Amino acid sequence: MTVRRVLKMGEPLLGQVAAPVERFDAELQGLVQDMDDTMRALNGAGIAAPQIGVSLRVVIFEVADNPRYPHVSPVPYTVLVNPELTPLGTEQAEGWEGCLSVPGLRGLVPRYTRLRYRGYDLRGAPIERTVEGFHARVVQHEVDHLDGILYPQRIEDMRNFGFEDALGARMTPMPD
Ligand code: NI
Repeated sequence: MTVRRVLKMGEPLLGQVAAPVERFDAELQGLVQDMDDTMRALNGAGIAAPQIGVSLRVVIFEVADNPRYPHVSPVPYTVLVNPELTPLGTEQAEGWEGCLSVPGLRGLVPRYTRLRYRGYDLRGAPIERTVEGFHARVVQHEVDHLDGILYPQRIEDMRNFGFEDALGARMTPMPD
């Protein structure tokens, strides 16, 4: 069990484009274990390897059924290596996102409503899914981390960005 330090917005590694994984080996398993321990310790819905200081194209995410977020459908636990996203259609929806690297803040971010993603699991087996709603949102948020993008860069109206405890009823919270 290793809970790693989560990098915060402003640290240069979070702005880098991460490198593809080339070997599905014990080192990758150790990385994912640390990501998993860190995500769970902080009650995150997802985490990307660069957030713990490793510039590789690996994300994990999971949203359990949670009474705090009655409008969010559960998302199965997924380890996604070298992901590729393909939006299905042009429809987007706005949602209030948070991020473990941007603690205490929330912003209203547009994301594609439906998309297909491809990638590999921890053992190198291919994954391909067509998803929508919060599942689509969390994948777009996490994969952005691999391209050096944090959600505040996606906010269209900066009036819709602020501290969670100050936004209050203006905001519908979603899992980080
Ligand atoms: Ni994030």
